[in-house]
Amino acid sequence: MNCNSFSDLIILLSGGINQRRLYAEGHPKVKGMARDFVRQMEDVLVHTGQTGFFFGILNGKFIRDGRFLVGPSIVGRNLVRFAERLRCGGFLLRRGVTEEEVGAFISLGTTLKEKVENLQAAKDLLRSEGIINIDPSPHYREQGPARSGNSTDSSLFDPGLIRFDFEDTGGGADTLSLQQELEPLLPIFQSMYDAIADNNLHASRDENLDVDRTMGVGEELMNVADRQTMDVMNLMRYPDYDSYTIGHSVRVSTLALTVGRAMCWPQHLQTELATAAMLHDIGKAKVPEEILYKPGGLTDEERKIAETHAATGARILMARGDVSPSVIAGAWGHHLRHDGGGYPDTPSWVSRSPVASLLQVCDVFEALTAARPYKAPMPPRRAFEIILKDSRAYDPACLKALIRAVGLFPPGSEVVLNNGCRGFVAAHGPSWEFPVVKVTTHPDGTTLDPDDRYLVNLATEPDIAVDEFRMVKLNGVEK
Ligand SMILES: [Fe+2]
Repeated sequence: MNCNSFSDLIILLSGGINQRRLYAEGHPKVKGMARDFVRQMEDVLVHTGQTGFFFGILNGKFIRDGRFLVGPSIVGRNLVRFAERLRCGGFLLRRGVTEEEVGAFISLGTTLKEKVENLQAAKDLLRSEGIINIDPSPHYREQGPARSGNSTDSSLFDPGLIRFDFEDTGGGADTLSLQQELEPLLPIFQSMYDAIADNNLHASRDENLDVDRTMGVGEELMNVADRQTMDVMNLMRYPDYDSYTIGHSVRVSTLALTVGRAMCWPQHLQTELATAAMLHDIGKAKVPEEILYKPGGLTDEERKIAETHAATGARILMARGDVSPSVIAGAWGHHLRHDGGGYPDTPSWVSRSPVASLLQVCDVFEALTAARPYKAPMPPRRAFEIILKDSRAYDPACLKALIRAVGLFPPGSEVVLNNGCRGFVAAHGPSWEFPVVKVTTHPDGTTLDPDDRYLVNLATEPDIAVDEFRMVKLNGVEK
């Protein structure tokens, strides 16, 4: 049983709290989360022969067996905040914990707004909610030095001994290398994720959106794109476990901004573009989730309801009175076709905003190339083939810029070179067929130390070519 199983448990628990923020107590979605969690925890404990499941929290990150786990940190912000309010440094869940206890824990994680006085008060609070088999654990700094042994005691070590490490998501050394390289991009990913998730929540509750903060995050993304040696497009491949909703908007934002920059859009328009991209699907907060998440096809009536999200999103933004027309146009027009058609119904004399045109093609490209619960991601070459078959649907300048900016090998893709070395695409090169590859292994497949990894520009190395190309495996599953 690798540590990925424990990461999955943390993700499930975090997901429960995130869902509970969106749905009322007793909602089937929240109940289902609690049920899945209990079942999976039991499986993991039976396999590992342990009597409980412990995870720690330090500096906003989850820890398991002395390692920071990055994946859960992205989706688990609300669980981290819950731990902060309980003034604890982690949780121990004992074998035998019931669905009802996990359900109550999830609900408390959503409703508790104030910090409790101390750890004892936290324990008392959990007990008063009928949660007997979950214990909040003390902060690391309040505990003694490192101690090995039963992993349910794994909180008992000196924080100084924690190494910053990455969970193995099942993709082996390549995935591990990619995740290490992605580390500088995590803060901006987290900011985007939080801004989108919070705005979705506000919209679902008819509360005011925080558009200023979203614009701030858009500016931050621009700054990161200016500063980083690492192409922000690598965020496209980050295994965030939530590709379907928030992850989609994060990736469309990254993609659109990359293309907008390549088209030399002025700075203020780039900020508006990133903001519009983060908010383009905000209207989905008002589409019933039974339709939004329905597996398989929708009926005509359901499809019409789903399609209202574009106009609804624009109305939500317009109601604020201070949102830039480009951002409103992005929500309204990101499903409008360049040759007319699409939705919502718009008079033919209305000229499309360039923001909406760019978002439209990025939205389609992301949908084709992303992993979904029901489909594997499509290689960019295939996605472009599909898009080009219907090229009249897209603004030609935007489509051309997208193809040039992404290339056939988008940053973050794993590659095997013809000399046997493995690596991943660090940036697209001057030509879309010749990327810049960060080499992470020797020709025999053994991993290079982080300091020894190097960049190869395939445009200037005619003897080196990409032999194999694959998207990153997500969560241990070949996608
Ligand atoms: Fe949409």
